[in-house]
Amino acid sequence: MRRTLIAGNWKMNGSFSANQTLLTGIIAGLPVGDAVETLVCAPAPYLAQCADVLEKSSVAWGAQDVSDHAKGAFTGEVSAAMLADCRCKYVIVGHSERRAYHAESNELVAQKAVLALSENIMPVVCVGETLEQRESGATNEVVAAQLQAVIDVLTDEQLARIVVAYEPVWAIGTGKTATPQMAQDVHAFLRSQLAIKSVAAANVVRILYGGSMKPENAKELLAMEDIDGGLIGGAALSSVDFLAIISAC
Ligand code: PGA
Repeated sequence: MRRTLIAGNWKMNGSFSANQTLLTGIIAGLPVGDAVETLVCAPAPYLAQCADVLEKSSVAWGAQDVSDHAKGAFTGEVSAAMLADCRCKYVIVGHSERRAYHAESNELVAQKAVLALSENIMPVVCVGETLEQRESGATNEVVAAQLQAVIDVLTDEQLARIVVAYEPVWAIGTGKTATPQMAQDVHAFLRSQLAIKSVAAANVVRILYGGSMKPENAKELLAMEDIDGGLIGGAALSSVDFLAIISAC
């Protein structure tokens, strides 16, 4: 059984006061029961605030990126050990915005996943194709290469502790969503790639869908066999929308 994970990716949004309102709104409206795991991935300066506000709740918090170095002279970087200090349970690695704007390679993303795991933080490894790649029929090839770089550097036991997020680049922040079947096809393919390395890991790794997931489309997407949750950007900035997605599970 894979426990559904609904993760908010706040991106570069928020302030102490806005976060306080958002987080207390989420806590107040969380459905009872533990069928769904809830996570918010906040900008680094607000992780301590998340720890403070969420400590006694069932909502987990995580970061949006981590350095590919353990420590030292890397001005501006945040290490996995620092995220562990902020009691992050997860960290997003390889988001398409980091791949596009910071030229992150598949190998660099894999190194970040290794360092996160070394601090017992679960990496949420993002993969996804651009519109051009989809239209040229290269989707599977692109996502396979992105995932394979991570598979290559992990043991089977480590692989079982990652989360994968399939986020078609053309669906992020655009209002365009992959149809549930389109997403399911890629999710099933990603799981088959994991299974080549370890069937046990493939059975437990959660594969989230991301890209304009909203209360209106969440139910259909989350009903698909290999969609184990969502990575939500825009709709995670409103407690009402975020809670509606959680309730759709
Ligand atoms: P979106 O972002 O929900 O705003 O499309 C998703 C993401 O980039 O993680």
